[in-house]
Amino acid sequence: MKEKRSSFSGSIGFVLAAAGSAVGVGNIWRFPYLCAKDGGGLFLLVYLVLVLTFGFVLLTTDVAIGRKTKKNALKAFEELNPKWKFLGRLTFLVPVLIMTYYSVIGGWITKYLFVYLVSDGIEAAVDGYFTSFITSDIAPIVFMLIFLALTAWIVFRGVEKGIEKFSKIIMPGLILLIVIIAIFCLTLTNTAPDGTVRTGMQGLAVYLKPDFHGLTVKRFLEILLDAMSQLFFSLSVSMGIMITYGSYVKNDIDLNKATNQIEIFDTGVAILAGMMIIPAVFVFLGNDGMASGPSLIFISLPKVFDAMGVFGRPAAIAFFLMMGFAALTSCVSVMETLVANGMELYHKPRKKMCGVVGIYSFITAVLICLGYNKLYFELKLPNGSVGQLLDVMDYISNSFLMPFISLLTSILIGWVIGPDWIIGEVERNGEKFKRAGMYRFMIRYVVPVVMLVLFLVSTGFADLIA
Ligand code: PFF
Repeated sequence: MKEKRSSFSGSIGFVLAAAGSAVGVGNIWRFPYLCAKDGGGLFLLVYLVLVLTFGFVLLTTDVAIGRKTKKNALKAFEELNPKWKFLGRLTFLVPVLIMTYYSVIGGWITKYLFVYLVSDGIEAAVDGYFTSFITSDIAPIVFMLIFLALTAWIVFRGVEKGIEKFSKIIMPGLILLIVIIAIFCLTLTNTAPDGTVRTGMQGLAVYLKPDFHGLTVKRFLEILLDAMSQLFFSLSVSMGIMITYGSYVKNDIDLNKATNQIEIFDTGVAILAGMMIIPAVFVFLGNDGMASGPSLIFISLPKVFDAMGVFGRPAAIAFFLMMGFAALTSCVSVMETLVANGMELYHKPRKKMCGVVGIYSFITAVLICLGYNKLYFELKLPNGSVGQLLDVMDYISNSFLMPFISLLTSILIGWVIGPDWIIGEVERNGEKFKRAGMYRFMIRYVVPVVMLVLFLVSTGFADLIA
């Protein structure tokens, strides 16, 4: 049975849903860390330039492919050029892999929110708490299931009544929470055991002041690559998600304006996350307290909340609620992409596909949870890091597939189909695409080269060659 193709009701619905996908754990646990590591304001500056160039080109490409073909990645690339059908399959593989672990991380966030809601949360600040939670048998699965059920329920309700409606509630709530927490963090003060007084405003200076200390060409390239891979993950491009969301956009909507707004939203939240996390960690844990990924959120921050005294618990609840919102709308976009591709491929109704994808997600997520106990192993990844099941999935999807897909997409659009195909789609509503010249140049010459370099470096091939 074929269902009528859904669509977002208007531009705001699309922008908020796409921003919901883009704003996720990457904005909060990775962006501030990279800023702190890569010279504060210097990283910020580099990132902003990349967002306005690469980010804009990649996002425009995905959304325009979706809107023009009105199809999902699996079928859209085939329609562009039947010889490039494989690129649709490759792109589809990314959400297939991400779905296995995103709800597990969502479950961790749900668990911490729960702990701070029902207790003062002091236990969460104790060394070893996080490890003992993720290595336990049942709890990570239960919390993952709660998070996954919520995700599936939103997707089950459909594009307008589910995704759009919830994004319209959740995204403004997220912004409100993050602004309140950031302002609160800037007003913090603490005296360290050695008598030094640290304030939130000093932390802000650490964050925003460009640090050119020891800057060499090699170091600058490192910063550039860090910013590039962050941008990529952060905007949810090259994984078919923005193609699916683009396919729900009506033809009279100004794509140029909408993609700009999505970028502003995503980058704005990342900058605000830095304003909240860097000062808080600086005030209570000092310069060396910054960590990346799960350890920042689940190990360092509980210590910060603990040190805040009476404000700790409300701050923690607001924080994990905001983080939960960010993860939920991202997870919804991954699941929606799987469901939509499945509906199109097998001509099955949404409800049935939700069931199939839900079961797939649950089984694979249980395996990822078991990756921390019964299925534990340590694998040295080609990029030098050591990981277990979750890291392996993350590595294949983000370090390997995403730059590779961007490389191939830019060749397809830049050289096989021609950039005018995309430009025509952007201008469909009659508005002129002001940055068309830049788009043309970037997609043909700059994106393929840079993506190749990023692919070689992030997969570790560059080390082999060097
Ligand atoms: N863009 C999200 C973030 O910055 O955290 C991450 C993300 C969402 C990645 C959805 C992948 C995905 F399918």
